[in-house]
Amino acid sequence: MRLPLYLIGFMGSGKSYLGKRWAEALHLPFLDLDTYIEQRTQKTINELFDFYGEVNFRAFETQMLKEITKAQPQTIIACGGGAACFNNNILFMNEQGTTIYLQATANTLVKRLENEKMNRPLIKNISTDALPPFIVLKLEQREVFYLQAQKVFSVESLLNMSLEEQIALIHE
Ligand code: S3P
Repeated sequence: MRLPLYLIGFMGSGKSYLGKRWAEALHLPFLDLDTYIEQRTQKTINELFDFYGEVNFRAFETQMLKEITKAQPQTIIACGGGAACFNNNILFMNEQGTTIYLQATANTLVKRLENEKMNRPLIKNISTDALPPFIVLKLEQREVFYLQAQKVFSVESLLNMSLEEQIALIHE
């Protein structure tokens, strides 16, 4: 498998959770792109959206995706949910390493995100009622990019597998 291994997918799809487990099992370092951005800018993702707006956030995100790819290529990288969908980043990642789309159904995402909105600027002000249609629409728009990944794994299926089975799938 060519490194870095980029995990992409919607907010709440488990990119950081699975990425950490896989990194440990494969004895590779793990990096979370959002955490890296927060450390590098000394601002939270919420603050970056508030102060600079989404367009500027996407520019930072792209710059830092390129920066960590160059500085730490032997890594598993959990990308923020939008990272693959802007500035041709999916093409860059496909060129540099291996991309895996963690595909979750809108139902799963709604359940997971209902109580995890606060640190996520795109959904923090969306009411519980408005969240399901928002996710359905956003997911549909984003799958155009996510489905360009080299591998697509169903999150619901992954969670019924042992860690060994998950790792075997990565190596297929
Ligand atoms: C975003 C997802 C977030 C974070 C930011 C924007 C998105 O990351 O990068 O809030 O556009 O989907 P997670 O997918 O880790 O929540």
